Amino acid sequence: MNTADTILVIGACGQIGSELTMALRKIYSNVIAADLKEPGNEVRDSGLFIRLDVLNKPSLYETVKKYNITQIYHLAAILSATGEKNPELAWRVNMKGLRQVLDACIELGVKKLFWPSTIAVFGPTTPRQNTPQWTVMEPNTIYGISKQAGERWCDYYFQKRNLDVRSVRYPGLISYKTPGGGGTTDYAIDIYFEAKKNNHYTCFLAEHTRLPMMYMPDAIRGTIELMEAPAEKVKVRSSYNISAISFTPEEQAASIKKVLTDFSIDYAPDFRQKIAESWPESIDDSVARADWGWKPEYDLDGMTKDMLENVTAP
Ligand code: SER
Repeated sequence: MNTADTILVIGACGQIGSELTMALRKIYSNVIAADLKEPGNEVRDSGLFIRLDVLNKPSLYETVKKYNITQIYHLAAILSATGEKNPELAWRVNMKGLRQVLDACIELGVKKLFWPSTIAVFGPTTPRQNTPQWTVMEPNTIYGISKQAGERWCDYYFQKRNLDVRSVRYPGLISYKTPGGGGTTDYAIDIYFEAKKNNHYTCFLAEHTRLPMMYMPDAIRGTIELMEAPAEKVKVRSSYNISAISFTPEEQAASIKKVLTDFSIDYAPDFRQKIAESWPESIDDSVARADWGWKPEYDLDGMTKDMLENVTAP
C-alpha cells in the first residue's frame, strides 16, 4: 500500500470516477472521493467522501489544504451531448473547473495532476482513420472545444509552471457499474442494458457509424499506468491518443447476437449522429505505446461477454 501520497478524485461518482476511485484505493491508503452527487455504496463505504463543487474555489482550496493533497484526478466534466444542450454550463464546468484545479496545484503544492481529454478534440477536418497524435484539430462541439483548450492549458502549466500534469484522450468508454455521463458514445453502453432487458435496442446512431471505444478496465489500468510512469517517459503533456477497439453499432449488435441469439436492433439517429460523424473512426496510439507502454487487452467479443455477464436488467 502506498502511503506517501494523498489523492483527491474530483468527479468520483461519475462513470470513470466510481471505478478509478476503487482501483486507486487498492493501491493507495489515502484516496479521498469528491463529487457534487451522492456516492454509491462502494465509494461511500470504502473511504472518505466529501461533497465538492469544483467551481467553488474557496471550497476546492480548503479541501486541498485540509487533507494535504499530493495528487489530483480531476474528472468532473460535461460531456458532448449534454454540452450541446447547455454550452454555457459545459464551458464553465470544463474550463473554469480545470483552471481552478491547475491553479490549486501550483499554489498549494500538489505534485501531480491527471485530467482526461477525449477523441472529441478532433473535428470534421481531422483525418478520420488512424488519427495521429499530432494533426488538424478543429472540434465543433463545445465539449471538444473546451477539452482542446484544456489540453493547451495543461501543456502550458507543464512548460511554464513545472506542473507534472498527465492526460489521455479517452475514446467512448463502456462499463456497467455507473451509467454513461451524457456522451455521444453512450449508445454502446445502453445497448447491453437493453439487450439484457428487452432483447432489443433502438440505436441513436446509424448502423455504419464507426467510433473508437474502450472497455473500462483497460481505461482504468491505462490511466494508473500513465500516472505511475517515470516522469521522463511522459513526453506529451497535452494529452496522449490511446486506442483499443473501433466498431459500428451493427458490428456491436453482431457481437451481442453471438451470446443472445434473439437480440435485434433498429436505428433512429438523432442530433448525436452529426457529432459522431465529426470524430475519428480509429486512433493511432503509437506514441503512447512507445513512451509509457500503453496496450489494451479487451477486444469487442471479450468486452461483450463480460458486459452481458455483469449488466443486471433493472
Ligand atoms: N464519450 C465522450 C462523449 O461521447 C467522448 O469523450 O462525449
